[in-house]
Amino acid sequence: MNLISAKNLSHSFDYDLFSNVSLDVEEGESVAIVGMSGSGKSTLLHLLSTLLTPDSGEIELFGEMISQMDKKRLASIKRHELGLVFQSHYLFKGFSAYENLEVSEILSQQEINKTLLERLDIEQVIEQKVTELSGGQQQRVSIARVLTKQPRLIFADEPTGNLDTKTAHEVMELFFEYLQEKKAGMVLVTHDEVLANLCNRVYRLENKELQRVK
Ligand SMILES: Nc1ncnc2c1ncn2[C@@H]1O[C@H](COP(=O)(O)OP(=O)(O)OP(=O)(O)O)[C@@H](O)[C@H]1O
Ligand SMILES: [Mg+2]
Repeated sequence: MNLISAKNLSHSFDYDLFSNVSLDVEEGESVAIVGMSGSGKSTLLHLLSTLLTPDSGEIELFGEMISQMDKKRLASIKRHELGLVFQSHYLFKGFSAYENLEVSEILSQQEINKTLLERLDIEQVIEQKVTELSGGQQQRVSIARVLTKQPRLIFADEPTGNLDTKTAHEVMELFFEYLQEKKAGMVLVTHDEVLANLCNRVYRLENKELQRVK
């Protein structure tokens, strides 16, 4: 089953960013999107994750058209099924790392998984304020926060951009295990071709088109 199915998406801001972009993600699948800075990758991820409405085109989430959903249904899907790891972390700055996870725990009614904190190597810093953490630690806290929700679809924009190569690979391995275990899907935006190639499929956003390269 397709977790998400996007057809003929177009979007422009001051100029046309892209048009006729179609993309499907099945259960257990990871799909990478690469492309030059400014090509519209983050914008595409915002469309797919319902944060932005496309100028034209349609998106189905779990077999339902977004444009046909009422607000309540969309809010429930966002809360329970979609996991967003974005370029800026959007952690609550005044809170500790753990308090940030608790927010996710309460909203999604899923318990914080201690193994997750160990795997991400953040259990020693979990009581510290977000502002006292390094960029990479904040990034790992936001990954822990998203996985705490147990989403069926993960949208990740450079989720390992602040991490060293070894840690980045460990985090990707954690994502892939999660996808298999929960039959979830992931759309990963990255500049790192090596990480992109670990995904089942790879697309490049270039010349206003999304082209499959793997
Ligand atoms: N809300 C917005 N309003 C106006 N223009 C925007 C907005 N968001 C993005 N843009 C423009 O759209 C273009 C694509 O931006 P986007 O963030 O999607 O690129 P990207 O491929 O993710 O780049 P990067 O690799 O640097 O993250 C840029 O020229 C950007 O200035
Ligand atoms: Mg971007």
